[in-house]
Amino acid sequence: MNSELKNSELNLRPLAIALAVAAALATATIVTVATALPAYAAEAATAEPAEPASKPWLDKSLSADKRAKLALDAMTQQEKLGWVLGHFGADFANKTKKHPAALPFSAGYIPGVPRLGLPALFETDAGLGVATQLSKTPRERTSLPSGLATTATWNRDLAYQGGAMIGKEARASGFNVMLAGGVNLLREPRNGRNFEYAGEDPLLAGTMVAQQVKGIQSNNLIATMKHFAVNDQETGRFVLDARLDDASNRMSDLLAFQILLEQANPGSVMCSYNRLNGVYACENDYLLNQVLKKDWGFKGYVMSDWGAVHSTVEAANGGLDQHSGWEFDKSAYFGGALEEAVENGHVPQARLDNMVFRILHAMFDKGVVDNPVKEGGAIDYDAHKLVSQADAEEGIVLLKNTGSVLPLKAGAKKIVVIGAHSDVGVLAGGGSSLVYPIGGNPVPGIEPTIWPGPVVYHPSSPLKAIKARAGGAKVVYNDGADPAAAAKEAADADVVVVFAQQWVGEALDAVSLALPGNQDALIGAVAKANPKTVVVLETSGPVLMPWVDQSAAVVQAWYAGSGGGEAIARVLFGEVNPSGHLPTTFPVSESQLPRPKLDGDPKNEKQRFTVNYHEGAAVGYKWFDLKGLKPLFPFGHGLSYTQFSYSGLAASQKGGKLQLSFKVTNTGAVKGKDVPQVYVAPVGAKWEAPKRLAGWDKVELAPGESKEVSLTVDPRLLSMYDSKSKTWRVAQGGYKVLLAHDAGDAKATSITVQLPKQTLNVAGQPTK
Ligand code: BGC
Repeated sequence: MNSELKNSELNLRPLAIALAVAAALATATIVTVATALPAYAAEAATAEPAEPASKPWLDKSLSADKRAKLALDAMTQQEKLGWVLGHFGADFANKTKKHPAALPFSAGYIPGVPRLGLPALFETDAGLGVATQLSKTPRERTSLPSGLATTATWNRDLAYQGGAMIGKEARASGFNVMLAGGVNLLREPRNGRNFEYAGEDPLLAGTMVAQQVKGIQSNNLIATMKHFAVNDQETGRFVLDARLDDASNRMSDLLAFQILLEQANPGSVMCSYNRLNGVYACENDYLLNQVLKKDWGFKGYVMSDWGAVHSTVEAANGGLDQHSGWEFDKSAYFGGALEEAVENGHVPQARLDNMVFRILHAMFDKGVVDNPVKEGGAIDYDAHKLVSQADAEEGIVLLKNTGSVLPLKAGAKKIVVIGAHSDVGVLAGGGSSLVYPIGGNPVPGIEPTIWPGPVVYHPSSPLKAIKARAGGAKVVYNDGADPAAAAKEAADADVVVVFAQQWVGEALDAVSLALPGNQDALIGAVAKANPKTVVVLETSGPVLMPWVDQSAAVVQAWYAGSGGGEAIARVLFGEVNPSGHLPTTFPVSESQLPRPKLDGDPKNEKQRFTVNYHEGAAVGYKWFDLKGLKPLFPFGHGLSYTQFSYSGLAASQKGGKLQLSFKVTNTGAVKGKDVPQVYVAPVGAKWEAPKRLAGWDKVELAPGESKEVSLTVDPRLLSMYDSKSKTWRVAQGGYKVLLAHDAGDAKATSITVQLPKQTLNVAGQPTK
């Protein structure tokens, strides 16, 4: 897209929606807009070929491969072309009207071929639930807590359950493609979309999002791994050129995608806006043809992000299979232009056939054809809220708890709750992934009210949930607008709970990691007035905490979703023993980051620039280890109301794989869940950083109880990737295995194992 159309980010999308809303209010607007629009009616007017006498591709006993091939063979050229051009599900500025068959205010629509029994594709965002494009009448659905919160559970099963739940709501809402499966690595803590993703470690991120994707696809839907690839900041996302060498990429960002793909087999992949090493991701032969389709054997289809296409021939030959929401781009590149390019041979007919084959393959493989969706299905919102709440409860991370101020004890006379609209709800992140809350937004009107807003709170009130558990205590709320007044109110309380927040969203990175507005001053003043101050953070990701030493406890609650208020209160009162662990490092200051200052200029989004990922594969804790930096809270950190100890770490090798076992014991007085983490570190060989996460488990233990845990290490995590030979290589020698509570655990138990030399192919499989 040219830089002018970058405006679709900050201007055109909201303009589109604004126009839609205006159109509903003013007939004159409708007339004006309508005349400028393409006539979708032409589609219907084209004479349809006859329905075939038999439709062997509908035979469920055949393989997806066979069915896709049979269906493809039965198609006309026009029918084939119809699959590769997607339409936006809302009016787009003064350019186009919503496709009449698209679900209102949805992300996208691709017409089906009814004469062949092939349904249309109805696309919805995204990873936290069923979203709606900016609208006055949004779908109200259940929202999961943020992706980082789900990842912070380190609980595979919860990630699956969350995916299954939102997939169910998508199906009941008439959608068969969920644009969910975001796994961009957290290289940039200020990235406005970190809350949609799964943190800084490729194994953790790939594994957790894979579970979500599996859950979604268990509903016979297509899920979408995105944004492929190295779309790691929002500032300048349409124009930036991410520079990262192949080997580093394969061991970091790409590894997260590769793991997700292997474990969950998503039907589609969304290529991203940015360039990678000079080439736009959606026409990037290296990314799409070489890595994704050839090296990893991806059988589904690549769809573009909305507004990420810049060409017809380059994109088609570069591996893009479906042009999404074409209205966002300068031209309908995969419309008439593609037809012509195929006619004159610039794009081979076989390539068009393969594009369609891939789409059909995903549709058959995931059950989209055999299980048609229908809008208006029943949704059990009460049950779904509990799924979301269970996720939030395990994702909340107890960062600090001095003097055991938490869990809150019975017998308090006065509890003061301050700030962040905690009287009425919990914050959500902004952009296309926003799930509009059931019952509406309790805090309307906060800027920005248009893209990437609105700023929305889920009406699950922490204050109400705290009151319900406070026994005889008087619970007082203060909105935190005036730090001095809040401090005065807090001074004589038995305990103070200050909520702080950071709203970010798609297209909008955090300008800094400092809490916005007066919140640092507020927390500082309150903690000074009353040392029994508990800080609850509702942030996308890491923030700076200049007041950390003054506070008694810090609770990272992320964007907590539909049941967030209850989840927070249950953790505060000990009904839930916290068991979340950080999926990302919290730095002391931005000067510790590989890029102390964010690249690009949010005020000049047209200027092309380069982001040089000089840290290579040393992302997050790996960077901190490499540079000997001590973070505020390390990756993997998370406290509990009990304690756990480890013993008996032992290693063996089976079938070329390193296997580990150990025992976890709950040495405290209450039941709890632990996340024992295994890191590996080469003794002689040199990696991008001193150590890597190689495995973990989540175990629930009663007081005094022990459990045996065994893990198998993916040999890629013991290798360096070699670009020249396209192999993963384990160097012969000693490797330290550390059993730790977090990446910064100085008391980690360790053993050293000797590993033989091993070579794995590009897909991570042993070679002879
Ligand atoms: C986002 C995608 C999203 C699409 C459709 C884009 O702006 O980057 O993640 O799926 O819009 O709403």
